[in-house]
Amino acid sequence: MQIVHTITDLRVALKNKAHVGFVPTMGNLHAGHLQLVNVAKQQATIVIVSIFVNPLQFGANEDLANYPRTFEADCEKLIAAGTDVVFAPTVNEIYPDFNAQTQQLGQTMTINPPPIAAELCGASRPGHFSGVATIVLKLFNIVQPAVAVFGKKDFQQLFIIRELVKQFNLPIAIIAADTVREPTGLAMSSRNGYLNEAEKNKAAELHQQLSDIVNKIKQGHHDFLSLERSAIATLSNRGWQVDYIAIRESRTLAPAKASDSALVVLGAAKLGSTRLIDNIDFFALAN
Ligand code: PAF
Repeated sequence: MQIVHTITDLRVALKNKAHVGFVPTMGNLHAGHLQLVNVAKQQATIVIVSIFVNPLQFGANEDLANYPRTFEADCEKLIAAGTDVVFAPTVNEIYPDFNAQTQQLGQTMTINPPPIAAELCGASRPGHFSGVATIVLKLFNIVQPAVAVFGKKDFQQLFIIRELVKQFNLPIAIIAADTVREPTGLAMSSRNGYLNEAEKNKAAELHQQLSDIVNKIKQGHHDFLSLERSAIATLSNRGWQVDYIAIRESRTLAPAKASDSALVVLGAAKLGSTRLIDNIDFFALAN
């Protein structure tokens, strides 16, 4: 596996390579990321993984400084997974006007994401999806993949990236990979590493509440608001700080109607100081 840190070296590594598969990550890799690599390997002749903790997608009070950086361990996992090239640029490489003294990125042109970016996770993370869409567009321009793989765990992110590709006419196929879970049902996430032992034992409760909603909808419950409210109350009573529980139409992310059959139940909630997200997409018999 080749490791490159500059765009110039990446171009050399990719010269004359057709049908490039790309997996963008922020590192601290777990089985969920390696699943993305597996999917990319099935779809492409060469697989590039980027490792870049993107400052533009973190809010002022978020965990940018403490975000786990585990580059050596990540590379070992990527070798075992059969990755061809790791692209691990510096902030300066990605943001050419970055000022190291003031820490200002100097990125004065950014993607203005669609209105859905202000809902769900975007409601409590203003600017987050603009930062995500901007870095993903930059990485797409740098890597020029034929195929890029993203996890369904970040369902809203996946939706916004699909819009980015569609609205900017990018010749890239976006593939969605299923969420990888712990035996308890907890979705794998780099942020699970922030949980203490007691929190780890509780963390699957978020997924349980989403599963309960799915089961109830499949049994014919269509009072979505009361299903959302009841899950919020249950989690709050168990010590969670709930950001949202939402039932949406899965292809548009619009609030679900009883007549919709492609649905997704999404949730975000804090356990202690760790914010976890999860979702389940499914088909229900429409009313
Ligand atoms: O999902 C992530 O890890 C990040 O949001 C991404 C897509 C790598 C952009 O920084």
